[in-house]
Order: sequence, then C-alpha cells, then structure tokens
Amino acid sequence: MNDFISIADHTPDELRHLLDTAKTLKNQYRQTGRNDPLLAGQTLAMVFEKPSLRTRVSFSVAMTHLGGTSLYLRHEEVGLESREPARDVARVLSGMCDGIMARTFEHRKVVELAQYAAVPVINGLTDYSHPCQAMADMLTIEEHFGQLAGRTLAFIGDGNNVARSLAAACGKLGLRFILASPPDYSLPVQDLQRIKDQLPHMQLITTNDPHEAARQADIIYTDTWVSMGQETQKQQRINDFVGFAVNAELLALAPPHAIILHCLPAYRGMEISDAAMEGPQSLIFQQAENRLHLQKGLLVELMKPSANR
Ligand code: CP
Ligand code: NVA
Repeated sequence: MNDFISIADHTPDELRHLLDTAKTLKNQYRQTGRNDPLLAGQTLAMVFEKPSLRTRVSFSVAMTHLGGTSLYLRHEEVGLESREPARDVARVLSGMCDGIMARTFEHRKVVELAQYAAVPVINGLTDYSHPCQAMADMLTIEEHFGQLAGRTLAFIGDGNNVARSLAAACGKLGLRFILASPPDYSLPVQDLQRIKDQLPHMQLITTNDPHEAARQADIIYTDTWVSMGQETQKQQRINDFVGFAVNAELLALAPPHAIILHCLPAYRGMEISDAAMEGPQSLIFQQAENRLHLQKGLLVELMKPSANR
C-alpha cells in the first residue's frame, strides 16, 4: 500500500491483510499494554478542515503507541488552497514528516495531496468517502460474527461518505449491502454503477423502505442525516428523513441477533434513539475504539520502514 484514499483502490487481499495487522496489534496491546515501537522516530502530519474526535484521537494515540508522534494542523493555519496549494503543502510536509492524514471537504484535495506527496497519504474523511471508518467497522463486525463473508449490512439513512465507503468495503470483503434511504438521498447512480462494475458479484441493493432492509440485516448501520458541511440543509433533511430512524419499532423487525453500528457523532432522537444506542444490540462504543486499532494497522502497513513504497 502506498496511500489509503479509497477502498476501491485496494484488493480484497490487501484489505484482509490490513484487518489482520490491526487484529495483531490490538491483541498485542490488550495482552501486554504496549505495542512494539514499529514507527519509532516517525511523525504523522494531520490536516483537518473539519472537526473530529475519533479520527484525530485515534491517529494521534496510534502514533504514540507505535513509538512515533503526530502533529495536529488546523485548516486555519495550513489553508489548503487558500493559504497555499495542496501540491505545495504535500511537498513541504513530505520533507519533514513521514506520513500525512487529511480530512477535507473536497475529495480532490486529498487526491492531490497523494499525487504530490513523497510520503503515504491517508483519507481521514472527505465529503465523498470515509475509508478508515469503513475498515474499522469491518473489524468490529468480524470480531462479533467471527467472519465477514455472507453477512448483510443494512445502512439506514443518507447515501453519504460513510455509506459509500461501507458499500465498497462490503463488496470487497463479501458482505451484502442494503442502502435504505428516502427518495433523492440514495448514493448517486454513477457511484452505484462504479461499485457494481468493479465488483460484479456483489449484492448491492437500494430501497426506500427501511423496514425491508431491517428484516434482512445482521448489521443495522446508521449515520447522521446532516453531515459536516450540510448544516444549512438541516431542517429540510430532518423532514425528509422521517421514518428512517433506528429505534425500537425498526429493531422489532430485525433478526434478534442483529447488531447496531453508528460511526458517531450520533444525534439521539434523530437518526437513532437513545434506547437503541444504549441497548444490548449496540456495539457502537466497541466500534469507536476499533478506530484506534485499525489506524495502527494502517499506519504500520503504510509507514513501517520495511513497508513497500
Ligand atoms: N466517526 C468519525 O470519524 O468521528 P470524528 O468525526 O469525531 O473523527
Ligand atoms: N457523514 C458524517 C460522518 C461523520 C464521521 C459527516 O461527514 O459529517
């Protein structure tokens, strides 16, 4: 692996290997309270155009546990394409740091950073995708069910960045993916077609009926109806998503073994009820912790001195 920008860029074997590395590092940390300093002396630059709790903390702590360090760079300081072009930032950071993680609004900025950087670049969320989240979620699902292939993930809500990355991860790793969203909020047709073209055997189903999706789910997944950058559409979206909440009524239709996931931050009373979040089917906080373990796997795969670059 050179960069981690989109799930689509990676083979199932690479993704499988990433999960195995993350699991090994998680077990090592659980059993011994530490990880080997595989990234000793290395620095990860973290550029954020949007707020973050999990992504920032997990990458920063992962670097610490692996013997390296991280730098938090706010948009107000870096000014990707307002203070200086992404291609200049990429080359300056490459001269001083060993990896770059960036969270941007426009996906093309992360792509451009990767194009010009001499060090690995990681997509820490864009308007288009959130691949680190999707792979951490695969780790959580595998830990719970023992294997990924054959499971059905029902994403109830907005066809957004998280849904797009989950669809690709499911396709690569053999899960069925159902997206239940209101009319006009599904993934764009061209994205669905791209996934189907790349993964012709994948079961990728879209529906406007959240009940139909819940009935088939091993995993019920939701995310905010109002992603970062969509704040002006908030009231319209709340109106349009009526009937798409993950709550007791929806859960009553799902198989009893179904688990609930949410990438967080969650808006209780909107896309998910408090009872669903706090109930026995929720693995949401184990899911959040797994961001740390997956980031460790990713950083080692990309930045370990012997890593193929
Ligand atoms: N799920 C996630 O990426 O959380 P943050 O936005 O807090 O990083
Ligand atoms: N779809 C959400 C995910 C937050 C982690 C957003 O982009 O705001």
